[in-house]
Amino acid sequence: MDAKVPFGLRGRTIKLIGLGAFVSLLLTLYTYSSSVSSTVSRFGFKTPPAQGSCPPRAWANGSWTRKAELPTNLTRMTKSADALEFMGYEACASSREYWWHLAADKEEQWDRFPGATSWEWTPGDDCDIRPFARSALLRHLVEDGGWLLIGDSVTENHFFSLSCLLYPDVRATPDYNLNPYLDRASPQNLYLDPNSELIPYLSFPPGFNVSTTPLVTFRRVDLLLDRPEIEDIYHEMHHPPPEFNLFSDEAYWSLSPRDYMEIFYRPLPEGNYGTLIVSTGGHWTTTLLGGLRNNTAADNGIAAVLELFQESMRVWADEVQQAIWHSGDTSKQVVIRAYLPGHEDCHSQRQPWTEYQPFRWGWYNWPDIKDFNAIFEEVVAPPSPYRNIHYLPIDRPALLRPDAHATGDCLHIMSGAGVLEGWSHYIWHYLTHELPDRIR
Ligand SMILES: *[C@@H]1O[C@H](CO)[C@@H](O)[C@H](O)[C@H]1NC(C)=O
Ligand SMILES: *[C@@H]1O[C@H](CO)[C@@H](O)[C@H](O)[C@H]1NC(C)=O
Ligand SMILES: *[C@@H]1O[C@H](CO)[C@@H](O)[C@H](O)[C@H]1NC(C)=O
Ligand SMILES: *[C@@H]1O[C@H](CO)[C@@H](O)[C@H](O)[C@H]1NC(C)=O
Repeated sequence: MDAKVPFGLRGRTIKLIGLGAFVSLLLTLYTYSSSVSSTVSRFGFKTPPAQGSCPPRAWANGSWTRKAELPTNLTRMTKSADALEFMGYEACASSREYWWHLAADKEEQWDRFPGATSWEWTPGDDCDIRPFARSALLRHLVEDGGWLLIGDSVTENHFFSLSCLLYPDVRATPDYNLNPYLDRASPQNLYLDPNSELIPYLSFPPGFNVSTTPLVTFRRVDLLLDRPEIEDIYHEMHHPPPEFNLFSDEAYWSLSPRDYMEIFYRPLPEGNYGTLIVSTGGHWTTTLLGGLRNNTAADNGIAAVLELFQESMRVWADEVQQAIWHSGDTSKQVVIRAYLPGHEDCHSQRQPWTEYQPFRWGWYNWPDIKDFNAIFEEVVAPPSPYRNIHYLPIDRPALLRPDAHATGDCLHIMSGAGVLEGWSHYIWHYLTHELPDRIR
């Protein structure tokens, strides 16, 4: 671990009150030494959109339109590999659950192609954004710093999509053909391919090693905090009896911010990250947090989960912002991607919606995801002190795509339908155009 990164919250004890006061003091000092107005204009609240500007809500305020031209003349799918042709991909670098990620693993759903891959997102009128370019995203990942993706299996969908979007200029580890049984906790990485034709045109930071410095890393972290931290928060705020068990034995994966902020700040050549991209919501349920389930309450206890989520995300934001200050390098940024519910009965859907449809059955915690998102947005919204943490409400394009799910469930999102690729496009734009002062 980089010795310059003393974390405020080592060990299990989280002193919520004490920490809050300490953070407020630091924040006050920090805010005085920097410009508050730039924070405000970054979010597009005050200033009208400048040329080349597309605030998150302007991006999301659009619609799905048919692509003018498809990348192939194929009209019918007869083998899994046709999915790549419909998507216009040569291949994907990641080898994990390859055809599952491409929604090409079930012959009985091949009739979803080319329909699912024939749409593009047309952002709202107030959005002025460059088209996506693979070479420009690669340049950003090398010259401005890579992306550390922290989240659950939906964030893993995003990682896989990046491995297609950036192919053939990247290679992925681990190789799941050689190691099919690796645990979900295993880090996954994209590296620049040593044969990439872009290499002569990139300006590498000193110490960058093409074979060992990742451009993108995914770590499976379902709750953004680890279990002891969430238990401490619950005990501190709610004083349950000693025999109380907050967690059921439902499986989940998580890490403490201590662990992934250490990864985020790894020095070259092991790390060159510029942006931490997080998302959470799907695992904050009354089944995983079984102690909060209440079968006699009308809401089954989800209000208690939402309350714990709010308390937890405040601690999370304190911990992450403090780690950034203490590091001495405040150019790094943290982006929260709004979480997504799935779509009920998704496999009978064959095209995008123009308006979002309400739930009929209310599976899982899907009807509550909007509330989790609203809470997370509120926790970090200006004028909060979390200057490096930015909430991106860019969930609407995905909400309008019931036809873009994996074949086996209605939560996970297929690569190549434009949803995951839109996240990469917009986040790249946001980092390079809406937050220009992060460019080193
Ligand atoms: C969305 O777009 C419509 C029409 O272009 C516009 O009237 C509306 O103000 C926009 N809303 C937001 C939040 O940008
Ligand atoms: C599709 O077919 C037309 C006519 O044969 C041809 O000109 C065009 O190049 C083909 N497009 C692709 C993407 O293969
Ligand atoms: C990059 O890392 C590899 C593997 O550790 C090593 O063999 C190589 O010498 C490094 N290259 C440079 C330029 O340091
Ligand atoms: C469960 O909900 C019922 C109905 O709202 C309430 O009376 C009861 O106190 C709750 N139980 C617990 C353990 O919170």
